[in-house]
Amino acid sequence: METFWDDVDRHLIRYGGTFTREIIDSASGSFLFTEDGRRVLDFTSGQMSGILGHSHPRVVETVRRQIANLDHLFSGMLSRPVVDLARRLAETLPPSLSKVQLLTTGAESNEAALRMAKLVTGKHEVVAFARSWHGMTAAAAAATYSAGRKGYGPAAPGNFAIPAPSAGDWQAQLDLAFDLVDAQSVGSLAACIVEPILSSGGILEPPPGYFAALQRKCRERGMLLILDEAQTGLCRTGTWYAFERDGVVPDILTLSKTLGAGLPLAAVVTSAEIEAEAHARNYLFFTTHVSDPLVAAVGNTVLDVLIEERLDERAAKLGAVLRNGLTDIASRHPLVTDVRGRGLLVGLEIADESLSAPITQKCLDLGLHMNIVQMPGMGGVFRIAPPLTATEEELALGVSILDEAIGSF
Ligand SMILES: Cc1ncc(COP(=O)(O)O)c(C=O)c1O
Repeated sequence: METFWDDVDRHLIRYGGTFTREIIDSASGSFLFTEDGRRVLDFTSGQMSGILGHSHPRVVETVRRQIANLDHLFSGMLSRPVVDLARRLAETLPPSLSKVQLLTTGAESNEAALRMAKLVTGKHEVVAFARSWHGMTAAAAAATYSAGRKGYGPAAPGNFAIPAPSAGDWQAQLDLAFDLVDAQSVGSLAACIVEPILSSGGILEPPPGYFAALQRKCRERGMLLILDEAQTGLCRTGTWYAFERDGVVPDILTLSKTLGAGLPLAAVVTSAEIEAEAHARNYLFFTTHVSDPLVAAVGNTVLDVLIEERLDERAAKLGAVLRNGLTDIASRHPLVTDVRGRGLLVGLEIADESLSAPITQKCLDLGLHMNIVQMPGMGGVFRIAPPLTATEEELALGVSILDEAIGSF
C-alpha cells in the first residue's frame, strides 16, 4: 500500500484532477472491488463508457475468442467484424448515415470528423459550444472550451465559441451568437461540432427545437453539422441516439465511449455524398488502429446485447427510477439546486461548489463512486451515468448513499 502510493508520487505524470485514493483490484457488473476488500458502486460506468457494466460475460467471451483468432491488422486490410459493425451501425441510424470509419478514441473520431469537414467544404473555421468537451488532440481540443485551453500555445485559427444554450429566449441567443460568428469569420466556416447533451459542461440539455435551429444556421452558411455522441450514443439516454429527440440528422456523427462499452473503439459516420467528396479530395486519416478487428468484434457484441436486451427501453425506465430518487433527495436537501438529464445520463447540481470534493469523498467512503466535475473552472454538478445493465436495487443503493453523503453536510 505504502509503496504503491510512493511509486505513484515518483513515477506517474499527473494528467488532470486528482487520483482517487483507492487501489482498484477488479470490477464486475456495476461494482468495483478495491485491494483492501471494499465494494464500490460505479455510477460513472468507468469513464462514462461501460454501458454494459464491467466484464460483461458476452464481452469477455468475444475478447477471448477474437484475440486468439485475429487481433490487429495492417491498416489497409479488412476483416468481417469491421465490415459487419459498419453495416450494423448504419442499420441503427437514419438512411443518410451509411458510411463508417472505425477508430479508437473520442478525440480521434472528432479529429477525423473535423478533418473530413474541412476537406469537403474547402474551409477551416469551426464553431462549438463554450462549455464543450471534444477531446485532447489538436482539432478536438481547439473546439473544447470547458477546460484546458490555457498554456498550450495557439489553438487552431478560426475556432469560435457560441454560448451553451440556456433556458429563456434561446433563439435570440443563437441569432446573436451567429451574428458574432459571422462578424469574426474570415469567410471560411466549415463546421459546427456539438454534443446533444453537454456532459462535461454540466449535463446541459438544449431545449427542443434548438438543434433544428442550429442546423438551419449551418445550412445557411454551407457548414456541416457534426454531432458528438461520445456519451449519449448507443441507448444511454433512452433512445439509440440522443439526436432522435430533435428530428435532425447530422452531416457527421461521432461515437466513442459507449460503442466499445469500456474498450477503445470509436466511429465516424457520414453520408455517401460526403464520403464520396472526401475520397475525391484524397481524404487521409490512416492510423495504427483504424479498422482493428479485436475492438470491432466487441462493438458487434455491444450491439447484440443492446438489441437483444432492449437496453434503450431499459435506460428510459431505469432513468425514470433514478430521477425519482434524485428528485426526492433534492426535495429534502436545500443544497441540491437541480436534477436534470435524460435516461441514464443525469446531473445533480449542488449550490456550494466547495462541497463537491467532500461529498464525492464521503460517497466513496460509503461505497459509491461519483464524478463531480472537479477540475478548476467547472461547475458543482455530479454526473451520474450507471451502466444500462444496473438493477433497480443497485440504483436504490446508490441513491441512498448519495442521500446520506449529502445529508452529512
Ligand atoms: C462528448 C465527448 N467527446 C469526446 C470526448 C473525448 O473522448 P476521448 O477521451 O476518448 O478522446 C469526450 C471525453 O470525455 C466527451 O465527453
